[in-house]
Amino acid sequence: MLPSEVEKHEQVEGISWSIPCVTIEDKPRFTWRGMHLDVGRHFAPVEFVKKYIDLLTSYKMNTFHWHLTEDQGWRIEIKKYPKLTEIGSKRRETMGDSTPYGGFYTQEEIKEVVKYAKERFITIVPEIEMPGHSLAAITAYPELSCTGGPFEVGTTWGVFEDVYCAGNEKTFKFLKDVLKEVIGLFPGKFFHIGGDECPKARWKKCPKCQARIKKNKLGNEHRLQSYFVQRIERFLRSKGKRLVGWDEILEGGLAPGATVMSWRGTEGGIAAAKANHDVIMTPTSHCYFDYYQGVPEYEPKAIGGFLPLDTVYDFEPVPKELTSKQSKHILGAQGNVWTEWMPNTRQVEYMVLPRLLAMSEVVWTAKSQRNYDDFIKRLEQHYDRFVYRDFNFRVPTPLGLGAKRYIFEPTEIELRSPVTSASIFYRFDGLDPTEESIEYTKPIRIADDYTLKK
Ligand code: ACM
Ligand code: ZN
Repeated sequence: MLPSEVEKHEQVEGISWSIPCVTIEDKPRFTWRGMHLDVGRHFAPVEFVKKYIDLLTSYKMNTFHWHLTEDQGWRIEIKKYPKLTEIGSKRRETMGDSTPYGGFYTQEEIKEVVKYAKERFITIVPEIEMPGHSLAAITAYPELSCTGGPFEVGTTWGVFEDVYCAGNEKTFKFLKDVLKEVIGLFPGKFFHIGGDECPKARWKKCPKCQARIKKNKLGNEHRLQSYFVQRIERFLRSKGKRLVGWDEILEGGLAPGATVMSWRGTEGGIAAAKANHDVIMTPTSHCYFDYYQGVPEYEPKAIGGFLPLDTVYDFEPVPKELTSKQSKHILGAQGNVWTEWMPNTRQVEYMVLPRLLAMSEVVWTAKSQRNYDDFIKRLEQHYDRFVYRDFNFRVPTPLGLGAKRYIFEPTEIELRSPVTSASIFYRFDGLDPTEESIEYTKPIRIADDYTLKK
């Protein structure tokens, strides 16, 4: 209700700081209104994590999913296992750049962030990945792997075949110790254990894993993963926590009480809700903020995919396949921010803004009441706020061309900027347009052979 200048750091003269006296009647549609951040691939300092929490609060999100461990870096101090950060938080280089990279949070820093978040009504859901995405951990403690190593903390992106050994009791002892320390730091009821992208190659050849499969009559490696997650689920439950995992935890049988984060589409979420499990919807199609926001040619390097603002806004977290009773299991949705191609936090800001605002309406507002044109109008005033708050963000490119469009007959192209006050410039000679180029005022007639750049 206050003018955007309220966000400025310096004193502002000449503005009337009056707000109307109102009663606000509003409530969010979902209880899980999430944003995620991967600090494994690229580390985010405490100061940035607080700035990110401020942003979540401003836009009425209530859950921060903090992805703390990865193949490429273990980012949280564990007192009982100091090598996790001494060794596991550092990598030799990143994608061949020959520059060492590292970073982690001390437990004191974690406590400070948890307190900061609580004061702003944000619950943090920590994620400690298992059994896959664990290369940094088994580099520090190779005895927790199937082969015994040696390993190196990941220096490239992707999925690694070396994972925790599921046949070794030491793995479970280690994980319970780690979880105990992490549980002590995060008061929220949900605890994320990853569970995605765990290759089974090592387990197939490992005598310990095979012995476990035989002894427990599991039959195959997928059910070994299910056994793994079920043991961890029992442990978390005994500590009063509810396990959350990526949708791969459905493979081989879902642990009782587990909540599923559906990312490879919505099928996993649908299956889980039908089986009376709670679900958070984060399908790549609508929720992966590491995907391109615009035509890749004009965007900073991203992981791939295409997720423009209007697609985020269009998301409906409750699949049609569910009955109204089953739909109650959809706790909400969340934007995921994987940082392989976000080497610094300025790039995180760019990828999150403005898409976070669209996700906020997804989790607050019934689909029938959402209106993209209206959203775009309301969004406009937030760009100034981003500037005043020193957030990097993306100015959306004009709508009307899609990612790529081939035209074979004379046609008219209608363009529109999602930012109402923005001007659109274009040119026909293949060079990048500037403000000296032709300003768009009416549909462009194309009757010749052109490459159109906007
Ligand atoms: C994921 O994106 N691997 C959960
Ligand atoms: Zn093994």
